[in-house]
Amino acid sequence: MTKKILVLPGDGIGKEIVAEAVKVINVLKADFGLDAEVVEGVIGGAAYDAEGHPYPEVTQQQARAADAILLGAVGGYEYDDLPRDLRPERGLLGIRADLELFSNLRPAILNAELADASSLKPEVVADLDIMIVRELTGGIYFGEPRGIRNLENGERQGYNTLVYKESEIDRIAHSAFQIAMKRDKRLCSVDKANVLEVMELWHEVVERVGKEYPEVELSHMYVDNAAMQLVKDPKQFDVMVTGNMFGDILSDAAAMLTGSIGMLPSASLDANGKGMYEPIHGSAPDIAGQGLANPLATIMSVGMMLRYSLDQSELAGKVDAAVEAVLKAGLRTQDIYVDGTSKVSTAEMGDAVVKALLAA
Ligand code: IPM
Ligand code: MG
Repeated sequence: MTKKILVLPGDGIGKEIVAEAVKVINVLKADFGLDAEVVEGVIGGAAYDAEGHPYPEVTQQQARAADAILLGAVGGYEYDDLPRDLRPERGLLGIRADLELFSNLRPAILNAELADASSLKPEVVADLDIMIVRELTGGIYFGEPRGIRNLENGERQGYNTLVYKESEIDRIAHSAFQIAMKRDKRLCSVDKANVLEVMELWHEVVERVGKEYPEVELSHMYVDNAAMQLVKDPKQFDVMVTGNMFGDILSDAAAMLTGSIGMLPSASLDANGKGMYEPIHGSAPDIAGQGLANPLATIMSVGMMLRYSLDQSELAGKVDAAVEAVLKAGLRTQDIYVDGTSKVSTAEMGDAVVKALLAA
C-alpha cells in the first residue's frame, strides 16, 4: 500500500536540508521500488506566516493522516517577539504532543571517517555507537502550571512544573529496554533522584520495568555525572534513557562527540511505530540560505524513517551506506571539513548521496 510521507521543511536551513532529503526519497521511489507519496506542509515560523499559527489546523490534518513525517527545523530571529504560544518552537512541541510521539531516539554514531572532526581525542570517540532515548511529550516541557506571575512585592516570578506520571515513565522505559534488547543489552537510566521527587519515581519505575527484561543490564546515573561521563568516556554507554529536558541537553552533547551536530538524525515514535523524523539540530538562521548546511542528518533521518515506520530496513541500509560512501570519498560540508577533504555545498552533498545510492 502506498505510504504517505508528510514533509515539513519549517524554517531557516530546514528548507535546504529537507530539499536534499526529498531528492533521496524521490530516487528511492523511482529506482528502488519505494511505494510512497510525498505531501508537503508548513510548520513553525513558515506556518505562522502562511496560516497564522505554528501548527495550524491544515498541518494537523496532514500529520494525522500521514504514515511518517520528515521535519527540517523550526525557528528564526524574526519570530522572537511573537507571543510564546505563536512561536515556531510551539509548533514543534505541538505536533509532538498531538501525535503522542513520546519516544525520541537519538543515535550518536561516530562515522570512522569523521574521527578527526570531533573535538575529543580520536581514541575516546572511535567506533562510538550510543542511543539516547528521550521522553518527548512530558516532563517540564509540558508540565502545568507554568507561566510568569506577579508576586505581592511587585517582583515577577517565572515557574514551570516537572511532572511525570507512572504510566509515562513506564512506556518510555519499555521503549528503551526494547531498543537495548536489539543492541548490546545495556541501559543507563539518567535521573536526578538525589534532589527531585519526580526523579525518585522515575528511578523506581524504570527499576520495576527492568524486571521484565532480565537480559538487559540496567544502571542508573545522575544527570550531572552522566554529562561528565559522556564527555570523559562516552563508549561506556550503549542505550541511555532519560526525561525530556535532560535528553535535550545530553543529546546535544552526544552530537558533538560525533564531530558535528549536523550528523545526528532522530526518530520520534508513538505507541504504534508511527513517527516523525528530524535532524536534532536547529534551524541555524545564521547560515540559512547560503548552501552551507549539512543535509546528512536529515538524509539519515530518512534512513530511520525507512527502518522504523515504513518497514524498509534494506533500503535504510542503502541510505546509510550511501552516506558512508560520500564521506569516504572525502566530501564535507563546512561543519565537518578538515584539511585534505573536499568542501561541498548543501546541494552538492545531497547530489553526491543520490549518486552513491544509484551506484551501489
Ligand atoms: C530539540 C530542540 C527542541 C527541543 C526545541 C527547538 C523546541 O532543541 O529537538 O532538541 O527543545 O526539544
Ligand atoms: Mg535540543
